Amino acid sequence: MNKVVTLEDLRSHKEQGTKFACLTSYDASLTKLMSDSGIELILVGDSLGMVIQGHDSTIPVSMEDLLYHLRCVKRGNSNSHIMADMPFMSYATKELAYDNAMRLMQAGANSIKVEGGEWILKTTELLSERGIPVCAHLGLTPQSINRLGGYFVQGRDLEDQNRILQEAKQLENAGAEIILLECVPKDLTKKIVSNIKIPSIGIGAGPETDGQIMVCYDVLGAYSWDSQPQPKFVKNFMEKNGSIKSAFESYVSEVKAKTFPSEKHSFK
Ligand code: KIV
Repeated sequence: MNKVVTLEDLRSHKEQGTKFACLTSYDASLTKLMSDSGIELILVGDSLGMVIQGHDSTIPVSMEDLLYHLRCVKRGNSNSHIMADMPFMSYATKELAYDNAMRLMQAGANSIKVEGGEWILKTTELLSERGIPVCAHLGLTPQSINRLGGYFVQGRDLEDQNRILQEAKQLENAGAEIILLECVPKDLTKKIVSNIKIPSIGIGAGPETDGQIMVCYDVLGAYSWDSQPQPKFVKNFMEKNGSIKSAFESYVSEVKAKTFPSEKHSFK
């Protein structure tokens, strides 16, 4: 059996200045193809609420939904690190966070992801003290869509940029193992990445993060939201590839070669 990608493996990318490729997955078959294509980290994301279930946000996703898809992914995985999203309100209190993170780890996750800034510091501390690796998701946090008012780029003004930078540092100090940045200007990403020692993963955050992630259906050209234009950070890797496996391989190669994301996939 191949060794599963560890946090140490991800940290060594940061140390050596190399990149790692990540994708979301929700089922066994695509997971097998992506894991065999060199995807180092697979996120069982609550984006499943949109791309699998057809909702217009991630808010309706339940713990049972997440656990079901995590178990499917686990069965298809070869040796990728599996990260599981904690759904909306599943970490709203200390008790909920413990209980639900435990369920995800017992179902096969190697780490969990929570969205938010200052308010998840305590949760991050509590979970990491108990041996649960935490990825903290900053910038555009889709579970807060009703407060944010839309899927907009975050960190546009100086005050917001300073807040996000401070939160990244505080989350690292609280024990977070990974910071995920979504839809922030690339210069802010650069500042954050150079101010933290833990690895970072980006989506719509420019080329500076140590890892890149995309929703797997977007890589496969299955973006189908008529009501919302395709975000500029999305690239269809199926266009120039004859199979799903080669699309995944080409995504991995471009991330590692630092040719994806390019300027045109990044926010200024
Ligand atoms: O749920 C998800 O797919 C995510 C990614 C957008 C990072 O959180």
